[in-house]
Amino acid sequence: MAGIPHDHYEPRTGGEKWLQRRLPIIGLLYDTLMIPTPKNLNWMWIWGIVLTFCLALQIITGIVLAMHYTPQVDMAFASIEHIMRNVNGGHMIRYAHMNGASLFFVAVYLHIFRGLYYGSYKAPREVTWIIGMLIYLLMMATAFMGYVLPWGQMSFWGATVITGLFGAIPGIGESIQTWLLGGPAVDNATLNRFFSLHYLLPFVIAGLVIVHIWAFHTTGNNNPTGVEVRRTSKQEAAKDTLPFWPYFVMKDLFALAVILVVFFAIIGFMPNYLGHPDNYLPANPMATPAHIVPEWYFLPFYAILRAFTGDVWVVQLVQFLSFGIIDAKFFGVLAMFGAIAVLALAPWLDTSSVRSGQYRPMFKWWFWLLAVDFIVLMWVGAQPAGGIYAYISLIASTYWFAYFLVILPLLGVIEKPLPQPATIEEDFNAHYGAPAE
Ligand code: HEM
Repeated sequence: MAGIPHDHYEPRTGGEKWLQRRLPIIGLLYDTLMIPTPKNLNWMWIWGIVLTFCLALQIITGIVLAMHYTPQVDMAFASIEHIMRNVNGGHMIRYAHMNGASLFFVAVYLHIFRGLYYGSYKAPREVTWIIGMLIYLLMMATAFMGYVLPWGQMSFWGATVITGLFGAIPGIGESIQTWLLGGPAVDNATLNRFFSLHYLLPFVIAGLVIVHIWAFHTTGNNNPTGVEVRRTSKQEAAKDTLPFWPYFVMKDLFALAVILVVFFAIIGFMPNYLGHPDNYLPANPMATPAHIVPEWYFLPFYAILRAFTGDVWVVQLVQFLSFGIIDAKFFGVLAMFGAIAVLALAPWLDTSSVRSGQYRPMFKWWFWLLAVDFIVLMWVGAQPAGGIYAYISLIASTYWFAYFLVILPLLGVIEKPLPQPATIEEDFNAHYGAPAE
């Protein structure tokens, strides 16, 4: 990175020099590992490594599962039971994959909310943010299709409900739905293509992760102060940063170890805690489960989908103005995708010149309310539709949109920020004391 000092790789042995002239790959890896990193990064900067670990875990366990799984409607459920009972270590591999998906989403939500609080999405890191959003969308698609593979009751009915959403698109919806399913209903063709894509997409995600890392290595990491590393001279930049290896690698590995203790305790003692018991019943197109509930990580957006019913006046108004083209069901679908779209647009909706939430006294309150709102949406998404829950989901969904579309743009204009430290070094020394000269 221009202006920031670090020791460049110098090939030493004859073999290294030979390779460096032909393919400078060791140099590239060395420079990536030694990248100068703001030295004040706190514990919220560990999630990227946790996410990388999750991706590797999912790919490795998934490849082993695929060796024993059969994507055929009459055999899929039984092949999972076979993995659980007969394959050596099969239950462990399956539980690691199942709960690995949950850890992946815990990490991604904390990673995203970290970005929202510290303003990591702001210029010049918009591309990092947008690539992140693409990764997140692909993660959701991958998890959704993976859940269909065991061919349990929730697999089947979840797939029916979610692909049914595309049917709500006026005019072309039904054709899209048939095209996605490979037929008029969720069936063998659906299972086959979902298996194929579920295997493929993690590798697309891996490619995007490389671009994501490339993007934030180009701009440099953000940090809790939001103040940029000084780039005027090598000496000044060196005072704001430390090389990624060994300092941050060790810190991240320590955090990962602690998280894995909890993760393996869950795999060992309560592997089905986050799952739904109905998915241990084979799929039955003739019997709809009493409540079709998505996996926990989809619940906030599922709540938004269900919040806008035909009773809501905004929905009625839109339906009237669009001559009935946008009905309540389609409105719900638009709201669900819109909720992700406003998140993606955060870099352009936030008008404040101050990056980190630490120095934004008003923003802080609204941000924490958004975090609570997200949890409320997650909770209400698992409740039955209607009654008091309908009001709660409507209020919580409205706040989600209000935060991005009204509060973020407005705060930048009316808020008076607190003084920020002049440099990262100053912030670091205030916390840990100045290093001995
Ligand atoms: C497979 C998923 C992902 C992986 C492996 C990943 C990896 C990483 C890593 C290693 C970092 C640097 C260290 C850290 O901040 O922890 C990072 C930074 C960042 N990520 Fe992600 N990420 C993923 C998904 C996302 C998503 C979904 C978003 C949000 C839309 C996002 C937004 C960001 C931003 C804005 C930064 C810059 C923060 C900074 O410069 O300090 N990432 N990511």
